[in-house]
Amino acid sequence: MKANEQLLVIDNVEVEYPAKGFGKKPFRALKGVSIDIHPGECVGLVGESGSGKTTLGRAVLGLAPVTGGKVLYKGRDIAHLGRKERRALADEIQVVFQDPYTSLNPSLTIEQTLSEPLRVKKMSGPDASKRIRSLLDQVGLPSNAADRLPREFSGGQRQRIAIARALALEPELIVCDEPVSALDLSTQARVLDLFKDIQEATGVAYLFVSHDLAVVRHLSHRVAVMYHGEIVEFGDGGKVTSDPEHPYTQRLLLAAPVPDPVRQEQRRADRRRLLQAQEDLAMQAGAV
Ligand SMILES: Nc1ncnc2c1ncn2[C@@H]1O[C@H](COP(=O)(O)OP(=O)(O)OP(=O)(O)O)[C@@H](O)[C@H]1O
Ligand SMILES: [Mg+2]
Repeated sequence: MKANEQLLVIDNVEVEYPAKGFGKKPFRALKGVSIDIHPGECVGLVGESGSGKTTLGRAVLGLAPVTGGKVLYKGRDIAHLGRKERRALADEIQVVFQDPYTSLNPSLTIEQTLSEPLRVKKMSGPDASKRIRSLLDQVGLPSNAADRLPREFSGGQRQRIAIARALALEPELIVCDEPVSALDLSTQARVLDLFKDIQEATGVAYLFVSHDLAVVRHLSHRVAVMYHGEIVEFGDGGKVTSDPEHPYTQRLLLAAPVPDPVRQEQRRADRRRLLQAQEDLAMQAGAV
């Protein structure tokens, strides 16, 4: 395999948060995690709260203390870059966070927010204005949004602005950490469609973090399932989200609510059966 066939290779990565207080042990949030992302691919990352999803996203962004393994971007290890090298990488790796209310500077107009990265790249005024108009258009906002402040927008619209900011420098990878979790259901669906359209139009790759299998199923080519700082399953998105191999993913799937009450009752029964079977197995294992 040639290194350039992969955009990102996360290879046996460990993250340890330093101990809080004397005599306490450091906390191993990631215990040797390996996944990879191809150019233009969406890899979904699911798992329960505290499993380490955000930590993995932060490791890719250089914001988590990586204590082992490699984060290879186009074949180069970016796990321990200096500040300057990391800043240079902002052209290629971007991020969209969960909370559109805190991720935008409230005192900057949308134009100012979007022109910041363009100014760093020394783009001229007229070119920047043109680029901002095209970015707003790409995320489905009117061009008169440019002169307004974040507080004049809804959560869904703010998330569109955050996406436009992430796209400004035409990155190759966006780490999306629960980017629709703060939105109501119908807005979620529209913003997810936007992520999908943008990927088709630009070929950007996503590491798409969510605790919600339904969200991840919607747009992931492959899905990784994290459990207590380890990847327990990584494979084809359709397969992992509908017919998973690992008992933890099966539980996650059965725990996700479905709108149809008959199917919901069926799922509850399935879940009870699965739990019972697992208990039986555990009993048997304990008996020998
Ligand atoms: N800065 C930190 N210092 C110490 N421990 C941390 C820090 N950040 C996260 N952790 C711990 O690491 C584990 C993984 O946290 P992380 O935020 O990656 O989980 P998550 O899967 O993103 O959860 P959620 O779905 O709630 O966002 C948790 O046990 C958390 O308490
Ligand atoms: Mg998180």
